[in-house]
Amino acid sequence: MSRAYNFSAGPGTLPEPVLAALQEALLEFSTCRAGIMEISHRSKPFEGVLASAKARLSRVLGVPADYSVLFLQGGASLQFYQLALNLALPGEATDFIDTGTWASKALAEAKRVSDAKAVWSSKGTTYDRVPAPGAVQFRDEAVWAHYTTNNTIYGTQSKAPPVTDKRLLADMSSDIASRPIDVARHDLIYAGAQKNLGPSGVVAVILSPWAVERSKAVGKARGGLPSMLDYAVAVENDSMYNTPNTFGIFALEQVLAWVEGQGGLPAIAARVQARADRLYAQLDSSNFWQPHAQPDSRSSMNVTFRLQNSDLEGTFVKEADAAGLMELKGHRSVGGMRASLYNALPDEAVDALIDFMKAFEAKHG
Ligand SMILES: Cc1ncc(COP(=O)(O)O)c(C=O)c1O
Repeated sequence: MSRAYNFSAGPGTLPEPVLAALQEALLEFSTCRAGIMEISHRSKPFEGVLASAKARLSRVLGVPADYSVLFLQGGASLQFYQLALNLALPGEATDFIDTGTWASKALAEAKRVSDAKAVWSSKGTTYDRVPAPGAVQFRDEAVWAHYTTNNTIYGTQSKAPPVTDKRLLADMSSDIASRPIDVARHDLIYAGAQKNLGPSGVVAVILSPWAVERSKAVGKARGGLPSMLDYAVAVENDSMYNTPNTFGIFALEQVLAWVEGQGGLPAIAARVQARADRLYAQLDSSNFWQPHAQPDSRSSMNVTFRLQNSDLEGTFVKEADAAGLMELKGHRSVGGMRASLYNALPDEAVDALIDFMKAFEAKHG
């Protein structure tokens, strides 16, 4: 085995005990005499997996009992369109906080089916910040506001939801299950699984009772929605209108069991914040390092930085990789470096990265 410390932004590193459990379940799951990928999604054992995945996600995040939890396909990117198609009447005003590439993509898709507008943007400063919670002025006529809790590419994170009486919709793809959140404050939460929840190919979607009712009313107003894009259909069929990603849901269930075993979100959040703080302290220690995010917008999940001498960045990534620290190259749209510190990354990986950085600065600084 030559598993390296994996700083990938997603799909990202998964807990080793979960990988071992998946390996076993591939050949034979429970008493099924077949592997987890080989049994019917309508079978009792898989119904148990789905029920357990929902129960664990609800427990871990504190989802109110009257909310609906779905596991859909098409990734967070399909949600960009699906949420507006279901939750906005044709031409209705919908507001977006534009904090990066994913937020802009959500806005672009919502524009296809509603009067979507960015009411705040940090594009002018290369998305190096998120707004202070009370800083955004939403349109009076907007039916809801959408924001991205963690901006994977730029390494910024909102510490709290926007302060507003608008209904809130949130893309939590890259920081879900890394800290406690107020689910009840949101009418829609969605997250691609491939960072903190499991493999790609599953998106967790959490809907308030208002969102489910709205989806029905908007569906009627739009003359019916395509079944696969209709939240109400997904809720009615318990995520099984068609064949769901059975393996992905099983893996997600196992990851959530691991999260619970770690002590849940308060314990995870303390660990995740402490190690991000250590890495930022290293970045703040000299001008050799140039962190991208403004201090009050820094993400605990994706740490983005450049080198004062940008010519050295390729060497940094190459030498780090040779030292067993993989996937540190920044996203192609920002350049530089990005260390993704998802839940399953061991603390030792961050310590090893900091040691590597100190040695690199001593050699090249
Ligand atoms: C915050 C955020 N939103 C959306 C996406 C897109 O997710 P998907 O590839 O599942 O469509 C990503 C992917 O990295 C992301 O980080």
